[in-house]
Amino acid sequence: MPTRVIIGAQWGDEGKGKIVDLLSDSADVVVRYQGGANAGHTLKFDGNTHVLHLIPSGIFHDNTTCVIGNGVVIDPEALMEEMKMVQDLGVNLKDRLLISETAHIILPFHKKLDSEKESHSADKAIGTTGRGIGPAYMHKTARLGLRMIDLCYPDQLAEKLKPIAEYSNCVLKHLYKAPEVNPDEIVEQLVAYGKELKPYITNTVEYLNQQRISETKNLLLEGAQGVMLDLDHGTYPYVTSSSPTTGGASTGSGLPAASFDQITGITKAYCTRVGNGPFPTELHDETGDELRRAGNEFGATTGRPRRCGWIDLVALRHAVHVTGINELAITKLDVLDQFNPVKLCTSYRIDGEETNVFPLDLNKLESVEPVFTEMEGWDQSTRDLKSEDDIPQPLLQFLEFIEEYLGVPIVLLSTGPDREETLQRSKTSV
Ligand code: GDP
Ligand code: IMO
Ligand code: MG
Repeated sequence: MPTRVIIGAQWGDEGKGKIVDLLSDSADVVVRYQGGANAGHTLKFDGNTHVLHLIPSGIFHDNTTCVIGNGVVIDPEALMEEMKMVQDLGVNLKDRLLISETAHIILPFHKKLDSEKESHSADKAIGTTGRGIGPAYMHKTARLGLRMIDLCYPDQLAEKLKPIAEYSNCVLKHLYKAPEVNPDEIVEQLVAYGKELKPYITNTVEYLNQQRISETKNLLLEGAQGVMLDLDHGTYPYVTSSSPTTGGASTGSGLPAASFDQITGITKAYCTRVGNGPFPTELHDETGDELRRAGNEFGATTGRPRRCGWIDLVALRHAVHVTGINELAITKLDVLDQFNPVKLCTSYRIDGEETNVFPLDLNKLESVEPVFTEMEGWDQSTRDLKSEDDIPQPLLQFLEFIEEYLGVPIVLLSTGPDREETLQRSKTSV
């Protein structure tokens, strides 16, 4: 049975949550593989809207087991709040939610270090979500981090926390002149979290591979953020601290990359970014404001207004290259209903030269002038698009243009936030 990876192909918030929820209908297992509660994945069905930050977006389908993989960084407090939220909605989590024993823990130190670093960075601030993501991954790579399995050994917690506490408090006190955090209080909290979370903590790598080997199970991997926020392949340093790409899906779940059959990139029909950093097609005019209004572009985690611009095929080409995306889902097509003409960025002009190669050099990236191709808009509502025959001709041309440019078929169209407002196409190649 196929293993499918869902990857944000832009700067996050492409509508991954909606698509994962939709596809979970036929999935046995849904796995989050990286990021943490910086993610905000919105699901809408039966007239209700739910935002998930850590729990995989398949949780509302009783048939799925949801796994928080080893590549995720978990804030136990945020996780427990979210578990309560879904349980209050009648969702049974017992035996349906598995938490990797090797996922790292976000501690109060990390959130404090995140906010202090941001406030001391002035105009170089990244505009993080303030969820402690960067410092938690920093401690993971420095081999200082605490992992979920450590919650199962409460007597060892104080000793294990010591090196992180010493490091963090030294930085807080001397570099940021900020108050220190009391490690004893953290140990007490962690012991309490451990009691609640222990039944869910397990060896998810073994579980996932057993599911894969059985060949009767559909596995769905859910990325957070997007390729352009990838630590290696994004607009560094204006990125997150994990790998939303295909490589991250493998290391963050323990499933071999060779087992991934479908790599589905999710892109909006236009482009948004929240936080700071280069955004070549950003619109600082009335059209940008229109896109924000029509698309209701405000962050699902922080409520910040998202920066808006036209779809950027140069950046998407880069995303396809580094992930092996072999099919695309395009969301928020309905938002473009009211725009005529619509524009697509097809190349960048850098120092007078035109290129379709996304520059990873920040100096070049900041001087990019986007070159646009204009296309006729479709001037009609796509909200109730139900069959391929109903796709208006100008929209079909817009989709074909993107497919030709990227060499990847668009297999799914999303024309509204609701699970139902989706058209799965029959095509599998360009
Ligand atoms: P994610 O982080 O990739 O899961 O995306 P977010 O949930 O942060 O942001 C996507 C937003 O767009 C949410 O408010 C969704 O409800 C909404 N959305 C998703 N697909 C569509 C669509 O096709 N049309 C419209 N109008 N809204 C959509
Ligand atoms: P989902 O999964 C959009 C952005 C932040 C900031 C940068 C680093 O909902 O698509 P971090 O807190 O990760 O250290 O912030 O990354 N960012 C996101 N932008 N969607 C997200 O997640 C994001 N998660 C982080 O705004 O620019
Ligand atoms: Mg989001």
